[in-house]
Amino acid sequence: MEKPKPSIVEGWNHSMQEYITAHKKGELLKLVTHTSNVCNLSCPGCFVNRPGDDVSEKRKARGKDEMSFETQIQLLEEAKRMGVKTVDIVGAGEPTLDPHFSDLIDKIEELGMQAVVFTHGATRFFQRENLAKYKDKPISFFIKLWSLNPEKMNHYVRGSLQNYAQLRDEAIENLRELGFMDGENIEIDGIQKTTTRVGADILVMQSNLEEIPDIFRFCRRNNIMPEIKTYIPQGPTKLDHESGTFEGLSEEEQKQLVADKVKPDEFAQLRKRIETIDKEEFGNNPMGVIYPQGGFCTQSAGALYITINGDILSCVGTGHIYGKYEPNTDMLSKTIRERIEQVGVGCIPRIEEAKKLGYTIPPEEKEIMEMGSKDCEQ
Ligand SMILES: C[S@@+](CC[C@H](N)C(=O)[O-])C[C@H]1O[C@@H](n2cnc3c(N)ncnc32)[C@H](O)[C@@H]1O
Ligand code: SF4
Repeated sequence: MEKPKPSIVEGWNHSMQEYITAHKKGELLKLVTHTSNVCNLSCPGCFVNRPGDDVSEKRKARGKDEMSFETQIQLLEEAKRMGVKTVDIVGAGEPTLDPHFSDLIDKIEELGMQAVVFTHGATRFFQRENLAKYKDKPISFFIKLWSLNPEKMNHYVRGSLQNYAQLRDEAIENLRELGFMDGENIEIDGIQKTTTRVGADILVMQSNLEEIPDIFRFCRRNNIMPEIKTYIPQGPTKLDHESGTFEGLSEEEQKQLVADKVKPDEFAQLRKRIETIDKEEFGNNPMGVIYPQGGFCTQSAGALYITINGDILSCVGTGHIYGKYEPNTDMLSKTIRERIEQVGVGCIPRIEEAKKLGYTIPPEEKEIMEMGSKDCEQ
């Protein structure tokens, strides 16, 4: 039997150069944005949370100043005019619970773009008969896969669902049975890959570090693109002590988040293990990109991040807000021209956080984190 090649999610199947070129031309290849803040879970480390948000132990509520549906539509139209091909929906809550979700996906389709939706997978949307309606839509998913062990997974997410992991696993099964993991061969940046419409968001913590190789194998065997990564340095997982306290988080939970942090040298060791497994068991060469044996970062160069409150930011890992999005005021172009952050296809924000926390980054790891940033400056 043929060994599985690296998987690439549809919508993320652009070359590194395309992102860098879009950045240099002042264009966008990707819009990173949100639907509503509503979520039936309440993960202690949810990176979009900010002090003062309406978050309880059971759920996240709709925000007071969320963009209207009309504004979201105008944002999509403006993004399209700026060259966007892919819209990543990365929050703010659980996208498939937003009442306008299907209309937004229809609009993305009408504009000829691809949606890539980050989801926890435990909603009615993923019931077979509902999901089947999306088979022919331009939509891919990244599912939360922090553990394959149901008890452990349930412990990570907190909130109002007792049987979260079981529902998520049923969603994965439905995606598989409906053919969302079937793909075609494609070459990107000189690497042979297989397309898919399913990725896995794999957050690496001390408490699941030893399980990551098995989660990776699960991904390879099912043509799921692994996004193996450490904490996003924002919200409750911005650990440089500037973030303030988070309502709804106990002192113990805050301590647990800190204790669970994986440092750059530990991540570099994990990367080596994953590369070895991929070579020995699946015949794939080391890729040397920020998400081990997954892909480079596609949410910085050639991309902008607009939250559900309309805040315009460089990416999910940065804190500077350029203003509130207003349709047809050229704000997106202006932000690109005035951007203060370094961008790239690695991860500059993680370098900056490591510096603040006094962590050393092994040189090979730093090189990966800095990938593309020099090219973007020229
Ligand atoms: C804010 S969530 C919204 C989507 C959906 N509710 C979910 O959790 O999958 C967006 C993505 O960020 C991931 N995530 C949440 N908090 C994180 C953190 N502190 N660091 C890194 N990734 C995080 C989630 O697993 C998910 O893949
Ligand atoms: S499921 Fe997603 S949006 Fe909901 S709390 Fe967890 S990370 Fe945040």
